[in-house]
Amino acid sequence: MRFSIYRFNPERDARPYMQEYELALDPHDRMLLDALVRLRAQDDSLAFRKSCREGVCGSDAMNINGRNGLACITRLADLKEPVTLRPLPGFPVVRDLVVDMSTFFAHYHAIRPYLVNDEPPPARERLQSPQERAALDGLYECILCGACTGFCPSWWWNPERFLGPAALLQAMRFIADSRDRATAERLEFLDDAYRLYRCRTIMNCTEVCPKHLSPSRAIEHIRRRIVSEGL
Ligand code: SF4
Ligand code: FES
Repeated sequence: MRFSIYRFNPERDARPYMQEYELALDPHDRMLLDALVRLRAQDDSLAFRKSCREGVCGSDAMNINGRNGLACITRLADLKEPVTLRPLPGFPVVRDLVVDMSTFFAHYHAIRPYLVNDEPPPARERLQSPQERAALDGLYECILCGACTGFCPSWWWNPERFLGPAALLQAMRFIADSRDRATAERLEFLDDAYRLYRCRTIMNCTEVCPKHLSPSRAIEHIRRRIVSEGL
């Protein structure tokens, strides 16, 4: 199988370049990550992240033939050759397919990704009805892979000020939680020309999310909540 892979080692290269590889696959190789692991055995200078190989940890998001996705759940049989791999667009490159996610996680931390509730805890736990729990479906499953944010032109133009689809979906996850008591503060923080309203409903995020989530719907729900709360 033929591959064309973005290479850049800032300690060695003046500029990035694409490197061509030819790889003999093993019959057991099913996913793109299997091929990458085999390629690294052939060329140990090739850098990429991986961990779970099950679509759970979110560490191997990259641009695969022009679309962001996770290497470990992308079937080799579905890929056109040469398979072109680039780092997540819009993120600074650390080396090859490894990107710097500091800004991405700074935005995640900014939305306060934890329950805020100062009421005295009940004897057992803060219970939810089945309906309240169901309100979190489609939000809590996010694995913070960055595929959506790295496919969002609004974020490419304003990565420091626009929170991006992943952080906004996570913000909605806590706004939607019946146990949280900081909804008003959360909405006030988000009600900002850049943090939230730089979203132009391009919907690339929803198109590429490997967990089939819809950050654009979450963003729409935040907008509606800001209107209904009269902020
Ligand atoms: S919303 Fe989807 S694409 Fe975006 S970070 Fe979460 S899992 Fe990844
Ligand atoms: S290696 Fe964990 S999501 Fe792909």
